[in-house]
Amino acid sequence: MAQIGEKLNKEFNDQVREELESAYIYLAMSAWFAERTLNKLAAWFAKQAEEEFEHAMKFVNYILDTGGSVKYETLKEPKRDYDNILEILETADHHEKYITKRIHHLYNVAQEEKELSAFPLLLWFLEEQVEEEEQTAALIDMYKGYKNDFNFDHVKRE
Ligand SMILES: [Fe+2]
Ligand SMILES: [Fe+2]
Repeated sequence: MAQIGEKLNKEFNDQVREELESAYIYLAMSAWFAERTLNKLAAWFAKQAEEEFEHAMKFVNYILDTGGSVKYETLKEPKRDYDNILEILETADHHEKYITKRIHHLYNVAQEEKELSAFPLLLWFLEEQVEEEEQTAALIDMYKGYKNDFNFDHVKRE
């Protein structure tokens, strides 16, 4: 495998932080739901957090496999004072859209640096982001459909 360049290595370390911050944001959302005994939503966001951790590790493994250097950066404290369910769902949706833009940026950098070996990983993430954006949008639709239901605890994983 090719050796990772300095520029992409730095971008990938930044993305490791972004993915871990995503996990942190979703864990805080999960706690918000759990504190209100909205257990299905709490479980859904806890599962998302696990996936974000796996995403971080995909970048870590790529850096290690290509002879780069892993740097774990400081994580921002996640927001915890949400007013209502919809605010959380919309925040998650916006966050996924932001992450999609980050992946586009990484793809552009890999292209500029002619680091073709990084393409399969980044293409995997592009596909994954389509799914993640679809999931958060579906959750909002579901919420709007159930908004007269006191619990809104009908949210299933799939
Ligand atoms: Fe992610
Ligand atoms: Fe995500």
